[in-house]
Amino acid sequence: MAQASVIVVGNEKGGAGKSTIAIHTATALLHADTRVAVLDLDLRQQTTGHFFANRRAWLAANGATAPMPTEDRLGAGLDSFDPTLRAALGKSRAKVLYQLEKLRKKTEREALHRDALASEEARYLSALLYPHRHPQERFYSILPFLAQHGMDLVDRLYKVVQTDCPDHRVVTL
Ligand SMILES: Nc1ncnc2c1ncn2[C@@H]1O[C@H](COP(=O)(O)OP(=O)(O)OP(=O)(O)O)[C@@H](O)[C@H]1O
Ligand SMILES: [Mg+2]
Repeated sequence: MAQASVIVVGNEKGGAGKSTIAIHTATALLHADTRVAVLDLDLRQQTTGHFFANRRAWLAANGATAPMPTEDRLGAGLDSFDPTLRAALGKSRAKVLYQLEKLRKKTEREALHRDALASEEARYLSALLYPHRHPQERFYSILPFLAQHGMDLVDRLYKVVQTDCPDHRVVTL
């Protein structure tokens, strides 16, 4: 039996053409007479699912034939073999979709959680740089720093400062 190949199309950016590439790749492979199963994990948009549903509807409306992914062949094959298995296929499909939906919700929750953490860290850093919405050099007096780090603090800072660097720099005391 030929080894199955898994092709994953991914990109962090939305709307970059992932689904379009997946659809064209799957369709080209179908025309090359290979057996193709398409898993659309994007349950919200279901772009690939809609594409193949539209393709099926168009073929039916125009009395035409063209290769389709395995899902359809499975159903058709089961119908001729044992129609009761069609219901089992529907049940399995619903279970898989349920698990995928659960995974989607978990991923969404985790993404929101990470967003909240990132915002919290951004707020913390922003408050360090702009205490009470003022640039820190206009808000803090040098005295508490001298008291905390010693009277030679200015000399120590002077040594590590790079006068040709226009950006903020982090100095560890
Ligand atoms: N090569 C291309 N040239 C022009 N338009 C394209 C190209 N590839 C995709 N598009 C269009 O860009 C839009 C987004 O494409 P697609 O839905 O495939 O992106 P996606 O990465 O799957 O998006 P999402 O992250 O929302 O799932 C669609 O309208 C599609 O028709
Ligand atoms: Mg997509």
